[in-house]
Amino acid sequence: MQLIRTNATLLSALQAQRQQGKRIGFVPTMGALHQGHISLIRISQQQTDFTVCSLFVNPTQFNDKKDLENYPRTEASDCEALAAVNCDLVYIPTVEEIYPPDLISPHFDFGELATVMEGKMRPGHFAGMAQVVHRLLDLVNPDALFMGQKDLQQFTIVKRMLQLMNSPIDLVCCPIVRENDGLAMSSRNVRLTTTERSLAPIIYSTLKSLKDPNYRLHFATPTAYIEHATKALNETNGMSVEYVSIVDTTTLQACDNWTNSAEKACCIAVRLGAIRLIDNVLFK
Ligand code: PAJ
Repeated sequence: MQLIRTNATLLSALQAQRQQGKRIGFVPTMGALHQGHISLIRISQQQTDFTVCSLFVNPTQFNDKKDLENYPRTEASDCEALAAVNCDLVYIPTVEEIYPPDLISPHFDFGELATVMEGKMRPGHFAGMAQVVHRLLDLVNPDALFMGQKDLQQFTIVKRMLQLMNSPIDLVCCPIVRENDGLAMSSRNVRLTTTERSLAPIIYSTLKSLKDPNYRLHFATPTAYIEHATKALNETNGMSVEYVSIVDTTTLQACDNWTNSAEKACCIAVRLGAIRLIDNVLFK
């Protein structure tokens, strides 16, 4: 695996691959890798010839300075995990490489895609996320981009950004990897106390019943389900709901009935003690 820290070296390494006609796949991450991230690498390897993973804790997408400072940085074990699955190239830039003083980042208008759910809870987060993804795409110039359904709203916003850019990059949505008890893998899970960790699977057990159309019929409307789920989650010790939303996955607007043909997602964000957790399921 090539380990690269500067834009100039990255450019020449990728040029060499392109000259050999290789299709380049890209998996952007903030490091602290777990099997969820590694699954994206594997999917990229199945669909492309050369897989690039970036590790960069992007300061512009954190609205809480403490959260940025506390974000886990585990470069050595991340590189080991990537080498173990034969990732071709890991790119670990400095803040100066990503944000040189003369950089001009385009502004994208994502409308309500960026103001609902996570956008409401974390103002400015998606502008910062789009800024870094745009910059990384400019540097890596991949044929395909692999991102997780775990961050469904992020995925939808990147999809819109690529449309606004008229970009030919294929964006691939990769399924959520879960622990055995259903908890969606996240670098934050290790910060849960033992008790919190034992309670956390209720998030997915609440969500997964929605995949069954017969279960949905217990609730006249999505709003009735949302009330039920919010109550159940809030009754769990130490858990408080930030939102439970049922949205159309294209527009991220709330669904007011179960029956239209749009693909839908139920998205949940909770606080469990000091930790914020998100999860979602898709259904029609
Ligand atoms: P990060 O949180 O490190 O996530 C990197 C990618 O891994 C994202 O596409 C995310 O959706 C995916 N991912 C996280 N947990 C997953 C799981 N349990 N199963 C499958 N995929 C999972 O998302 C970011 O970084 C940043 O916002 C980034 C896009 C890198 C821009 O800074």
